[in-house]
Amino acid sequence: MKILVTGGAGYIGSHTIVELLQEGYDVVALDNFDNSYPSVLENIKSISGKNFDFAEVDIRNKTQLKQFISEQKDIAAVIHFAASKAVGESVALPLKYYENNVAGTVNLLEAMQENGIQQIVFSSSCTVYGEATPPVDENAAIPVAQSPYGNTKQICEEVLRDQSNATNLKVVALRYFNPIGAHESALIGELPIGVPNNLVPYITQTGIGKRATLTVHGNDYPTPDGTCIRDYIHVVDIAKAHVAAIDFLAKEKYHNPFSVFNLGTGQGNSVLEVIQAFEAVSGVKLNYQIGPRRSGDIIQIYADCQKAWDELGWKTLYDLEQSMASAWKWEQALAKK
Ligand SMILES: NC(=O)c1ccc[n+]([C@@H]2O[C@H](COP(=O)([O-])OP(=O)(O)OC[C@H]3O[C@@H](n4cnc5c(N)ncnc54)[C@H](O)[C@@H]3O)[C@@H](O)[C@H]2O)c1
Repeated sequence: MKILVTGGAGYIGSHTIVELLQEGYDVVALDNFDNSYPSVLENIKSISGKNFDFAEVDIRNKTQLKQFISEQKDIAAVIHFAASKAVGESVALPLKYYENNVAGTVNLLEAMQENGIQQIVFSSSCTVYGEATPPVDENAAIPVAQSPYGNTKQICEEVLRDQSNATNLKVVALRYFNPIGAHESALIGELPIGVPNNLVPYITQTGIGKRATLTVHGNDYPTPDGTCIRDYIHVVDIAKAHVAAIDFLAKEKYHNPFSVFNLGTGQGNSVLEVIQAFEAVSGVKLNYQIGPRRSGDIIQIYADCQKAWDELGWKTLYDLEQSMASAWKWEQALAKK
């Protein structure tokens, strides 16, 4: 089976291509390198020992995208990662996000329809739940989005649902909680450009001395240690879930043309617990300080993953310490380059 991976040079896309190749799938990937580097492609090949096709394509360019997809033979399914993902930037530049994430997805669906490709796995996010009471399952209400980024994920899910009702399209939307960590080879991992938006790269960059101090945004929340709680999941577990989703579509295990699954560990960890896990696996005392709360942060969220366990036949393999150890190994490998 040949799978098209959009955003294949990115953080989650690169780990997913490794898993697909290792499971024997053929892969063709595209990326515009807006938030990634071409060298990632060679590293995927080194890890897997396998080759795959790649083209530099921008999904906003409808003509280019359609031409590229029409030239491909036998694409069975698409895994669609390509998007912009910085919440803060989306508040400042909403049109960039609606064009890339929403219009880009519409372009992709048009190209798929014209070429008879009827299966897609979509990268959604737990941000669609906003401030919900955890553990959150897939039936939780979807409130008004708190950022243009979050809104693009809600809108894309609706676009995909509508298109699956109108055509033969079959959709799996995967709502990721907080992906962290890196491949055990330390050849691929998260490559934040500039100041990291996410906690774990900020921790590892502080640990290695690239940043002076980590600020914990608030320790007076109504949680056991006062800091915010999230569901941190190893990126390789996320990648493996995409292979399970492709299998779920191929074997027609779905009850509806549009299926949605949470991808988390089912466990919440506080910011201080993540710092402690980092210190335990690295032996590095992290330089951090407590600062004021940050506007827009929700208090706590973690997933109810029962549906993915039951229907995708998928479970996480890695715990928080293993995830933090892999993130640290990756940061150390980056420092050597
Ligand atoms: N990492 C997270 O915390 C997280 C959480 C929830 C959902 N997601 C979603 O998962 C997906 C992948 O996230 P990631 O962390 O791997 O991000 P990433 O930025 O590392 O990867 C996205 C890739 O898409 C590419 N891209 C962006 N716009 C493109 C365009 N117009 N044409 C072609 N390629 C384009 C980028 O260059 C990048 O390589 C995104 O849709 C993101 O919104 C990520």
